[in-house]
Amino acid sequence: MEHRNPGPGGGPTLRVRELASGRELLRFDCFEDSPHWHLDPDERDQISRLESGGDPIAQVVGMLADGFGQLLSRVAPELNPPEAKGFAEGLVALDAQLRNPPVDLEAVRADERRPSVGEKWSRYPEDVLPLWVADMDFPIAEPIRRVLRGAVERSDLGYPIHPGPTGVRELAVERMRTRFGWEPEVTRVEIITDVVQGMYLALLGCTQPGDGVVVQTPVYPPFLACVEETGRRRIDAPLVAGAKGYEIDMDALQAMVDTDTRALLLCNPHNPSGRAFSREELQGIAELAVERNLVVVSDEIHEDLVYSGHRHLPIASLGREIAERTITLTSASKAFNVAGLRCAVVIFGSRDLQQQFSSLPRHARGGIGVPGIEALLAAWQHGQPWLDAVLVHLEGNRDALLSRLRKDFPGVVAYSPEATYLAWLDCRGLEIEGSPYEFFLRHARVALADGAAFGPPGRGFVRINFATSRAIVSEALDRMAQALD
Ligand SMILES: Cc1ncc(COP(=O)(O)O)c(C=O)c1O
Repeated sequence: MEHRNPGPGGGPTLRVRELASGRELLRFDCFEDSPHWHLDPDERDQISRLESGGDPIAQVVGMLADGFGQLLSRVAPELNPPEAKGFAEGLVALDAQLRNPPVDLEAVRADERRPSVGEKWSRYPEDVLPLWVADMDFPIAEPIRRVLRGAVERSDLGYPIHPGPTGVRELAVERMRTRFGWEPEVTRVEIITDVVQGMYLALLGCTQPGDGVVVQTPVYPPFLACVEETGRRRIDAPLVAGAKGYEIDMDALQAMVDTDTRALLLCNPHNPSGRAFSREELQGIAELAVERNLVVVSDEIHEDLVYSGHRHLPIASLGREIAERTITLTSASKAFNVAGLRCAVVIFGSRDLQQQFSSLPRHARGGIGVPGIEALLAAWQHGQPWLDAVLVHLEGNRDALLSRLRKDFPGVVAYSPEATYLAWLDCRGLEIEGSPYEFFLRHARVALADGAAFGPPGRGFVRINFATSRAIVSEALDRMAQALD
């Protein structure tokens, strides 16, 4: 297999050779422009077209699945076709590889700023390294690029078909089943614009002004804003620093939930602590929710960004009772880095919750665009090899970051994140005057996220985004160490 000019017009080539002689028997050029295939290219070379405008990779894999033996008999009748079962499994892996050329995760450089309409690289002056907002600096997965190019080339950017027939619902259920062992009902899945929007809609639809809503601080700032801006009452249940990371203080949490508390906003995996909560912890929350009749709004947008030794568990997968009171929000946008395309998925545990959530008029809830839907489908169907490579890179960055912090930043306390590409740095030991965010921005020219925005326990903390090249992570740490010196 070879990726020839991945990008506009190009695409992967698959060559079938006889091992002993090296002779090429078949060649499939799954290009975007004029896809075609060759029978016996080394000798008789007969060229046939593949359907253009379709999915040539699917077509080729289909041809091989249905008729490889026949093709082989036309070109090399003396060879035996491969054993059927192993061959079928191999084709699944082949399909994924054909769609995902190797990706250069070190491509982004500190001294070569690209023009960008995204905020990560635009908010701060040129000399500042942006390690703040949770976007990644990697080339987008080829399956996503391909469908977006296709939609543009076909001028296919009109109103999208109603979410029902897009296949998103079925794919979401299939993904939850295969990855997390959870099988929600297809009819309980809806598409929304984004996960934060889903939190607002959940509070507006399922709680009343003045109702208590629990958040586990420090937490991604929109969790705080959505409770305040919808006129609900914020109940902060701080996570506590334990032996290996931030933990839920169940006794304190139980004591805080009063009779007017209606909802708990769960962030799992948790931003900014990097925790992927354990079954026991989630069980504790589930029992509390059932006992006190709480709706759980579970933001699981980081579900695919979990490191070795840990796993993501959707809280709704723990059992029927908790599922029935849970609204799960997720998206392909975080793991596949397409947040700007605005498309997320909401999964309801019951019809009642679904109806309450949808009580605002449809147009007030916003619409979803074709590119977001196309990207989500491509990511979840075909992007796994890209994500696997990204996870290996991120885990390496995480480990490099943590070991450097331990070595050169004795005043900083940080746990190794179990999930997310964010690390939460306790800078109170640095004895910096004012906020560490301001300090590092001014003196190191590194933009981190200001811990104070994550709720009261975040004062004196910063959050660093390590989803970039190793070189940039290392340069940021050099600059930060120098500033402290
Ligand atoms: C926990 C969490 N939820 C939600 C979001 C944003 O999601 P969306 O862009 O779909 O609103 C982020 C972005 O970083 C996040 O970390």
